[in-house]
Amino acid sequence: MQARELKEKYIKFFLGKKHVEIPSVSLVPENDRSALFVSAGMHPLVPYLLGQPHPSGKRLVSVQECLRTGDIEEVGDTTHHTWFEMLGNWSLGDYFKKESLAMSFEFITKVLNIDPKLLHVTCFEGDKDAPRDETSADAWKKLGIKKERIHFLPKKDNWWGPAGTTGPCGPDSEIFVDIFPDLPDENFVKGNLRGRYMETWNNVFMEYNKGKKEKYSPLSQVNVDTGMGIERTVAILNGLADSYQSSIWLPIIKKIETQTGLPYLKNQAPIRIIADHIRSAVFLLADDVEPSPKEAGYVLRRLIRRAIVQAKSLGLSENFTSDLAEVVMENKNNYAGDYPELERNQDLILKSLDDEENRFRVTLDKGLKEISRLIKKKELSGLNAFNIYQTHGFPLEMIIEEARKSNYSLSSDFQEAFEETKKGHVKLSQTAAKGKFAGGLSGNDPQVLKYHTATHLLHSALRKILGDHVKQSGSNITTERLRFDFTHPQKLTEEEIKKTENLVNDYIKSALPITQKTMTYEESQKQGIISFFKDHYPEKVTAYFIGNEKDPVSAELCMGPHVKNTEDLGRFTIQKEESSGSGKRRIYALLS
Ligand code: ALA
Repeated sequence: MQARELKEKYIKFFLGKKHVEIPSVSLVPENDRSALFVSAGMHPLVPYLLGQPHPSGKRLVSVQECLRTGDIEEVGDTTHHTWFEMLGNWSLGDYFKKESLAMSFEFITKVLNIDPKLLHVTCFEGDKDAPRDETSADAWKKLGIKKERIHFLPKKDNWWGPAGTTGPCGPDSEIFVDIFPDLPDENFVKGNLRGRYMETWNNVFMEYNKGKKEKYSPLSQVNVDTGMGIERTVAILNGLADSYQSSIWLPIIKKIETQTGLPYLKNQAPIRIIADHIRSAVFLLADDVEPSPKEAGYVLRRLIRRAIVQAKSLGLSENFTSDLAEVVMENKNNYAGDYPELERNQDLILKSLDDEENRFRVTLDKGLKEISRLIKKKELSGLNAFNIYQTHGFPLEMIIEEARKSNYSLSSDFQEAFEETKKGHVKLSQTAAKGKFAGGLSGNDPQVLKYHTATHLLHSALRKILGDHVKQSGSNITTERLRFDFTHPQKLTEEEIKKTENLVNDYIKSALPITQKTMTYEESQKQGIISFFKDHYPEKVTAYFIGNEKDPVSAELCMGPHVKNTEDLGRFTIQKEESSGSGKRRIYALLS
């Protein structure tokens, strides 16, 4: 079975179980505040897991594109990917453990036809925060899973979330498939999970809310959040231990073999990294991210550069990324039709890759020069090597290779010093990433709510003052400020900035109520409500109105939440106005 068929079967199965399909949202969260990327299907559903009613009801299903950069260093093995598609189904205060596990079991054994004898499952063993999950274990037993195939594991293995530092989370139950059933039975030990027993699906029972001080309190409703990785499941269904050998990757891997003239089987790690990183880069570019020194743009830049460095280590020194990207985009069998942004932005994607590659080739040469300078001065230490790795994106093997070519003998602690420095760095950036995800998304901090409402007012004011061509192209909110990107061809004049600021403050002073209404997408378009769903339209949407619903100051489709009245916002000040790419402007503003 291929990816396309798996997706179709999954959606169809859950539609048959009274779920409503919701569209994949952009990789870069819109109107969100704190996370750089959507990293799980549940990401756009956080407010609804916390109790807000979802316009499409209590049972949802989706195919969501995700980007996870936390384990970028793991890419190169058989199962890790930065970009991937996650199949998921949700119960928002509707069914719970027994029903959910029964549906998972039915889908796996009846639709995917996986032999139930190949399954192993895990359940949460319990601790001071939550009891041992006997309910799930009993449910599995009733479904026919033998006792010795049900494993109880601690929190670090069998608990999912919150996605940031606070928010919905709970015990989970994971489903594994034995991909070497002909081998004699082995202990199902943790270290062994990812080799012989491949994880395919996770059922998370989101019944807790993690507060700021490690405190877990019950949510107002119990939810189910599941996630099934498409690449792994396709690998399992085709009897492959290496997910890069499935049809999802094959055309990309083949193209890299042609470009480098080297066989995949002898160069697996670098070829997997190139394939993974360029695929992720294509989807980020499709979602309007551009390579830059900051945030999402920096992640994109690193992905492209790491791929180029790996290619260079395989002897490929000419530009290759845009040719490879064409193969990623042509892969209709897997995703082309599902992501119209790939086709719409095709020229831009190819051009951005070429530009970034040209720019990087200059740095790459600088990096090589830096290595040879350090070799000459006999200063190529583990610490210096890490700096080159970090600044220029050189992998360690390539630095070692350069040293070897110059007959330079590295000190005995070279590798250790490199790894130590890297570990310290990874820890720092993981902490930073967690902090990023926290904030508004999961916590609904009151300050974040205010800034969110202020972006709607700002958007409306800009459209009144500059014209209807103004469209939000991004936003980012912290507890300290808002940042708002929009389309507009030239710099704003002092007068335009002042007028915008005054208009927003007038709205605030008018004490306008904020109300919401659920309607069909079609209806919202008839009413001229502004939307940012890009190409994916869910059937039912929520519109937020500021002011009188008949003649509102602002009407936008949005997931909320917002403050109740504009008078809660205080005083609005524009701090800075600058360019944010061609034809786009960016405003930073404060509430005080
Ligand atoms: N949110 C869960 C995951 O990402 C289902 O694994």
